[in-house]
Amino acid sequence: MRTVRAPATSANLGSGFDTFGVALSRPADIVSVERAERTTIEVTGAGAQFIPENPKKNTVGAVAEALDAPAHIRIDKGVRPASGLGSSAASAAGAALALNDLYDRGYSREELVPIAAEGEAVVSGAAHADNVAPALLGGFTIATGDGVHSVDTNVPLVACLPEEPISTRDAREVVPTNVTIEEMVTTVGNAATLTTGMCRSDPELVGRGMADEVVTPNRAALITGYDDAAAAATEAGAYGVTVSGSGPSVLAVCPRHRRRAVAAAMVEAFERNGENARAYRTWTG
Ligand code: HSE
Repeated sequence: MRTVRAPATSANLGSGFDTFGVALSRPADIVSVERAERTTIEVTGAGAQFIPENPKKNTVGAVAEALDAPAHIRIDKGVRPASGLGSSAASAAGAALALNDLYDRGYSREELVPIAAEGEAVVSGAAHADNVAPALLGGFTIATGDGVHSVDTNVPLVACLPEEPISTRDAREVVPTNVTIEEMVTTVGNAATLTTGMCRSDPELVGRGMADEVVTPNRAALITGYDDAAAAATEAGAYGVTVSGSGPSVLAVCPRHRRRAVAAAMVEAFERNGENARAYRTWTG
């Protein structure tokens, strides 16, 4: 038997749609695997009732198949599904690591990224690697068509999770299909600023680089109370605020000593909008 802890992640970070991701120090899934004749899946924990245990419909079933590693897979969910915190990616990454070890497949963590990303396709319809990459490699990651770059970094974050779920599939429907040259230039500048900030563990630069006018506004419109929560976080000291992944979570970067205030301000703002929310005071993991 093998057991691994697979972290929540936040993808996009505003300016890096389908490319940037960061591992969060919490919450996390716990994935255990045992050899078996055929793959079976058992899910407990946060939102378990919404997760199919049929291996054909579950992200970890696709991973077990890709690794030719049938197993009884137990997932204790700490990362709620449809949260924007890489729930399916945490399970896929955890299963990939554990099965690779259990069956001695010998893949590196980098080589497991596309395998775990196949699991993502089962859930969202697209094999994007921006959540599985940080879940496997930690830190800040840049997932491109050519591979993955990762950077060790240490940036204080708050992830605020409203109760009302949003499916990645639905949130991908509102992504624009065209951008202007001006939008592209601004986005490249912001993405470069964010990357520099991550390399320097500089939360202020990261916050500036999170700005995005292409994907984030349409996504934010799906989240009840987003504008109030973002304004409250900024007022409480956040350097930057954006939609985490496909939402509904909202991610803020702030100075270390402002995390508690930012977390409380976001939760209160969502409550004013009739949304229960919980906030994780976290770090790049
Ligand atoms: N990059 C993906 C998206 C992440 O924003 O749709 C989903 O968590």
